[in-house]
Amino acid sequence: MNWKNDITEKLNSDYSIIQAPMFGVTTPEMVAAATKAGCLGSLPLGDLPVEKCRDVIRTTKQLSPKLFAVNLFANDIPVLTETLKAKYGAVKQFIENLAAEHGLTIVLPRIDEISVTSYHEQLDIILQEGIKVVSFTFGNLDQQSIQMLKDNGITLIGTCTSVEEAKTLEASGIDILCVQGLEAGGHRGSFTLDNVAMIGGMSLLSQVFDAVKVPLVYAGGIYNSRTLLATEALGAKGFQVGSLLLGSAESALKEFEKERLRNVKESEIVLTKSFSGRYARGIKNAFIEAVEQNDVILPYPYQNKLTNEVRKVAKANGNTDFVSIWLGQSNNGYSGDSTFEILKKLIAQTEQADHS
Ligand SMILES: Cc1cc2nc3c(=O)[nH]c(=O)nc-3n(C[C@H](O)[C@H](O)[C@H](O)COP(=O)(O)O)c2cc1C
Repeated sequence: MNWKNDITEKLNSDYSIIQAPMFGVTTPEMVAAATKAGCLGSLPLGDLPVEKCRDVIRTTKQLSPKLFAVNLFANDIPVLTETLKAKYGAVKQFIENLAAEHGLTIVLPRIDEISVTSYHEQLDIILQEGIKVVSFTFGNLDQQSIQMLKDNGITLIGTCTSVEEAKTLEASGIDILCVQGLEAGGHRGSFTLDNVAMIGGMSLLSQVFDAVKVPLVYAGGIYNSRTLLATEALGAKGFQVGSLLLGSAESALKEFEKERLRNVKESEIVLTKSFSGRYARGIKNAFIEAVEQNDVILPYPYQNKLTNEVRKVAKANGNTDFVSIWLGQSNNGYSGDSTFEILKKLIAQTEQADHS
């Protein structure tokens, strides 16, 4: 396997494997371990406030001298209409009642108590901290931000889940595309087709390869040498792994969540909008079932903000019925080894398997 290509060159890494940004799971320690293994580490900033972004970036820099990417949420934020405010109140009440029925006493924030951070607010800190790779999901950056980041020598990686999205990203000057197949764990990165592009990785990657010229990273279901090499055959030059690292020593998941992952049945892995208002792949539980049955779902990010507190309390209480445990379709056993060991094993296995 010859790992060196235009992706490793742009990302300044030994291997074209990318540790997926996983908001809520990826820690600075995971990013540092990935870079130590010669891969690209990705630090998710999600909707963290600016000061918190600075803290996690600085912590990661202290742990690793190597280059790493930061990851942004590039979604539009829907205007808060009176109808949306009224619906927020109703969903809030429903979730509080549901939690109480399951023994969790919580008061969720009122709509005027939540704050939403846009990626625009995070850009200054990214420049100030000298970040050189920015990946993003849930949308495309606006043209002014793209220009500003590129003028500062930053490589941009945009996420697509359809050929249409791939073409949009390429046309706006994005350097590398992360093609996210339907198998992937966590949120779908979709931003067109009403956010419902549900295209399997095999179909998607091959078609995107034919449609654009920029180098492609593939994300979704890679968990061993065979899956990695299959995506190489379909046109990927970079390989992003998320779920493979969920059980790792550096994952922020609690032990009860890792245990739940290790016992998951394939019929329990579902796509749901119930926790955040956007489709995400995770383990079915009582919360998902009740919210879907009653159709009490606000648009992203409002549902996400609303359910944040319930997830936090459930996490602290070891309650699997109210936490969101995201994972992809490839059950990889969720090793508790370090991120470094898991990635090194994937590299060694791939080098052994590939005789090209
Ligand atoms: C727990 C979890 C959180 C995720 N959070 C993010 C995120 O913050 N930003 C992002 O671009 N992708 C996120 N993703 C998607 C991953 O980047 C990647 O597309 C996916 O993990 C690949 O599929 P796999 O899980 O089968 O390896 C997340 C995935 C998981 C499992």
